[in-house]
Amino acid sequence: MTGKQRSNKIQVPQGMFDILPEDQPFYQKVYEVGKKIASFYGFKEITPPILESTELFEKGTGEATEIVEKQMYSLKTKGGDSLTLRPEFTPSLARAYLEQGMISLPQPVKMFSFGPVFRHEKPQAGRYRQFYQLNLEAFGSRHPIVDVEIIYIFYNILQSLGIKKLIIELNSIGDKECIGDYKKLLVRYLKKNESRLCPDCKRRLKTNPLRIMDCKQERCKQIAAGAPQIIDHLCKECHNHFKKVLEFLDELGLPYNLNPCLVRGLDYYTRTVFEIIAEDELGRQIGSLVGGGRYDNLVKLFSRKNIPACGGAAGVERIISIMKERRLVTAEVQPPRVFLAQLGDAAKIKSLKLMEDFRKAGILVAASLDKDSLSAQLKNADKLKASHSLIIGEEEASRDMVIIRDMVNGRQTTVRTDKVAGELKKKLKQQ
Ligand code: HAM
Repeated sequence: MTGKQRSNKIQVPQGMFDILPEDQPFYQKVYEVGKKIASFYGFKEITPPILESTELFEKGTGEATEIVEKQMYSLKTKGGDSLTLRPEFTPSLARAYLEQGMISLPQPVKMFSFGPVFRHEKPQAGRYRQFYQLNLEAFGSRHPIVDVEIIYIFYNILQSLGIKKLIIELNSIGDKECIGDYKKLLVRYLKKNESRLCPDCKRRLKTNPLRIMDCKQERCKQIAAGAPQIIDHLCKECHNHFKKVLEFLDELGLPYNLNPCLVRGLDYYTRTVFEIIAEDELGRQIGSLVGGGRYDNLVKLFSRKNIPACGGAAGVERIISIMKERRLVTAEVQPPRVFLAQLGDAAKIKSLKLMEDFRKAGILVAASLDKDSLSAQLKNADKLKASHSLIIGEEEASRDMVIIRDMVNGRQTTVRTDKVAGELKKKLKQQ
């Protein structure tokens, strides 16, 4: 999609794409595996609207983030409201938690979502402007076990989808107590190196100095490598929290890597931040599939209620791209073993009614109802390698009968229309 010459023809918007029929099983598989595992751990599904008030993301995702600065699709409604296509789920779920009174439910309230998000990014491999996220959030617990539970669930979802070689990148960015002092220290260090920073990071030095730690430019990476590390400046509570997270991960035997440069690109994080990265056979990192962390101060921005929270989101297209590349088979779609052929309008309408009987009986049947030639239809049955064909000619239609033809030995039986689903079930069982 990237770099493609765009003509004057109406085309799909840049950075977006059609999810074609052959791709649907992949999305369904990720959704089903995600939902099954998340619901086992008590995460209930919630679907917030795709459009939310712009203010929700400005406040929640954070004014100094790249998402809010450059990437939101915002619009003014005819009524004058300012709305934005969600660039992520987290602020929506914090809003829903407050608005739906979930504060009075037993805590933590754990929620699972799946759906498209929109970011006006520069399109490139693995980076789209509309992409799906599988998102988990848990509101109402400060306990480090919740951080680990979220990481563990994502890890298990990826494993169950067949993506086995994974590494968890981990850091703690402290809380209000310690981050302020650390930022001063960091800015002092970065100012000394300001002339060598990339233009974006020179700007970040004023708006969001922490982000300089994970700039992808080589020269900034070198500066970040020599910077003071937040982990050495955590307050006692944050230090103990992180220590527990590491202990739990050790107990579970999950592979992690402490990464002092991992700060994540969203303003709301406190304490634990993580990403789950896929590796190839040679141990080279091939993409960040999941990102998340704790955000104990986000809900407070909307309500003054002190509700700690933790969550994460997986990028569904990145997961699917690995599933496809490694030929990790998705839910195999069973081809129908029965073909229904018909002749004449009366037979066509009888066939349509019969299809409903088969659907209810759980028998997969293919048909080409728009075709008139019987031989063309039987050719389709051959292509499908159907074990049985059902034939309704004009005469059968008028007598309310159906011919069942065994495609292997050519034997035919004629049965009443209302008996055909039962009869067919028996024959398919005998095979
Ligand atoms: P994020 O790191 O911005 O976090 O996105 C999560 C995942 O979405 C990434 O790890 C990546 O797999 C995928 N992703 C991000 N941008 C793109 C893109 N342009 N194209 C394709 N995939 C992409 C969040 O969104 C946070 N809301 C996660 C979170 C939930 N933190 C706490 N709770």
